[in-house]
Amino acid sequence: MQGQVGTAQILFTRGVPALEALPTTLLSECMQSVLEGPDGKTILQYGNYGGYLPLRTMLGEQYRVAPEQIIVGNGSLHLQDLLTALLVKPGDVVLTEQPSYDRAIQTFRRRGAKVIGIPLEADGVNLAKLEEAIIQKKPAFLYVIPDFQNPAGVTTSAAKRQALVDLVERYDFWLVEDVPYRTLRYSGESLPLLRDLNPARTLTLSSYSKLISPALRVGYLIGPGDLVKRLIKLMEETILAPVLPTQAAVVEFHKRGYFDSNLENLKQLYAPRLQAIIAALKTYLPGVPFAEPEGGFFVSINLPEEIDCSNLLARAQAIGLTLTNGKDFFADPLDEHENTAHLGEHFVRLPFCALTPDQIEEGVKRLATLVR
Ligand SMILES: Cc1ncc(COP(=O)(O)O)c(C=O)c1O
Repeated sequence: MQGQVGTAQILFTRGVPALEALPTTLLSECMQSVLEGPDGKTILQYGNYGGYLPLRTMLGEQYRVAPEQIIVGNGSLHLQDLLTALLVKPGDVVLTEQPSYDRAIQTFRRRGAKVIGIPLEADGVNLAKLEEAIIQKKPAFLYVIPDFQNPAGVTTSAAKRQALVDLVERYDFWLVEDVPYRTLRYSGESLPLLRDLNPARTLTLSSYSKLISPALRVGYLIGPGDLVKRLIKLMEETILAPVLPTQAAVVEFHKRGYFDSNLENLKQLYAPRLQAIIAALKTYLPGVPFAEPEGGFFVSINLPEEIDCSNLLARAQAIGLTLTNGKDFFADPLDEHENTAHLGEHFVRLPFCALTPDQIEEGVKRLATLVR
């Protein structure tokens, strides 16, 4: 099997969709249809500042909220950044899971936030540590990725979801849930969104990047109407208008039934890749614990403490394995005196969707040779 993979470099780096998963023909049909359709000139003009209204309406039906509670922007990271600009003053605290999405940590810091990570366990954040941090730091918001977390692959349990919304209610701050992987469930049953448990205090972010294509730059935020209104004003002042042609293409993609068939194709493609990485980790790195996700893009491991990981990336590169620096996924710890020099050094994120099962097996096998 490994003969087919040979000695080519294996990239366990970015969480990107597989190239073969990008629906070029279907999208091309949708783009042509919307540009030639009755809204063709509307979507080529400035306007629709909160996003293409038919898309906001469609999402409103899906999430059972008014279109005014939805802003559709140029990807969800962009909306995360605008939201932070609105909610955070320099020096304010933002809480995240520890580890968390590296770009979110960067975005919050760039807006002047002090980002504090709350240890993530197999079923969600450590609640005692979270409450301690809330009491000490009075955060502007808590940012969580409750489904198939990036980077750890963890899904927050039903009990912890309830506990999170209870804490938010008790201590009065925003809960930001980021759910771009939620729909990519390969087995098992979905748990409620945090929004379903407490719509008044939850801001939901999601995206079509992993469900159709990242380059469409179509992401959205759902929240209370007055906050969404302020965000729309900020977006208009920042970028004038979001990219309407791709938003219209997304609506057309749904209307033609392509969304559902494409989602099914994605699951058919990715589910065996998830199985391959779980099997490879159990075979080649037995005893190294990891959360086994039922969907999404990521599995991650913590290498045993006794292993010297100081130049892991360079050693991996030398044997044909490209890894991301585990430290990037770690925010500041709550305890300011904690030694952070080695934080994240043993953490390895393994995005599996853009690799074939053979590449995954070979990649994990190479990783295992480094830690023996
Ligand atoms: C948790 C999370 N949020 C947001 C994003 C960014 O999504 P978008 O392409 O919609 O900006 C990603 C992309 O990897 C992600 O993993």
